Amino acid sequence: MDFTTKFNAWVSLTESGLDRYVPAAHTRPQRLHQAMRYSLESGGKRLRPVLVLAATELFDPKLRGDPLPAAVAVECVHTYSLIHDDLPCMDNDDLRRGRATAHRAFDEATALLAGDALLTHAFFLLATHYATRPAVATSLVAELGAAAGSLRLIGGQMEDLLAENRPDTHPADLEFIHLNKTSAMIEAAVVMGARLGGAGDREVESVRRASRDLGLAFQIIDDILDATEPSTTLGKTAGKDAKAGKSTYVSLYGLEKARRLAEERSAAALEGWRALPGDTTFLVALTQWLTGRRK
Ligand code: IPE
Ligand code: IPE
Ligand code: MG
Ligand code: MG
Ligand code: MG
Repeated sequence: MDFTTKFNAWVSLTESGLDRYVPAAHTRPQRLHQAMRYSLESGGKRLRPVLVLAATELFDPKLRGDPLPAAVAVECVHTYSLIHDDLPCMDNDDLRRGRATAHRAFDEATALLAGDALLTHAFFLLATHYATRPAVATSLVAELGAAAGSLRLIGGQMEDLLAENRPDTHPADLEFIHLNKTSAMIEAAVVMGARLGGAGDREVESVRRASRDLGLAFQIIDDILDATEPSTTLGKTAGKDAKAGKSTYVSLYGLEKARRLAEERSAAALEGWRALPGDTTFLVALTQWLTGRRK
């Protein structure tokens, strides 16, 4: 199966999982579940759930557990992070995944609660769907909890805000922001998939390193796209980083060097995938596709 066919099949599987494992829109309180589904169902690349599914497949078929609930959990946390990222008190954005942000389509309080509910639901899914394999369940909860917590995603978001209008941001601080606000969840997705595939600690460390490089490349490219692509292509407001005085790879290094740094990180991720046992063709193609993406 070629890369695009496989990617699209995993996106469809993810979307069927989102429908299956998240309360229906008519569930009381309807407004809350409508808002959760509004944000979840507005598309998006579904990169993180696809990474869970792809990483599971790398390892021993006999040891594999069903990765779909974990893939859904990861997309729930990611979508919550976008809803909150867009709030007026954070990046104050009106457009997300090609439509009005949750707080615009609903209201701020509903968006806040929808985000809270998606975050909480992710851990409920892990605890319930992997209950018959407690060691796996615990490792998934620990991985996602660490990635989404104050030392990583939220810590990165905090420093992202603190670095606004700070032209003196140090390169190491910018790397901290990107490694945590974005790369942490990409790393967690791959590691959770690997754990579900029965990977041992040594294999987990190898996929962790490669996915960290992929995650850093991914956010550097997000910074570049913000500065170079129109809102219609991005499905989110273009040029908003410069307007908000964000510290980004583009503001710190300029476009050309930012592109080079993204290429370097992407090359490091490719090297990491190629050194793994198992068939990494999909992860290699995914990394190449993400590096050349326009949204
Ligand atoms: C956007 O992530 C936020 C970042 C971490 C850069 P994606 O670019 O994966 O957003 P969707 O899920 O495709 O909408
Ligand atoms: C968002 O980074 C990271 C998280 C949501 C955790 P950005 O603020 O750059 O993401 P976009 O550009 O709004 O998607
Ligand atoms: Mg942000
Ligand atoms: Mg933002
Ligand atoms: Mg951005």
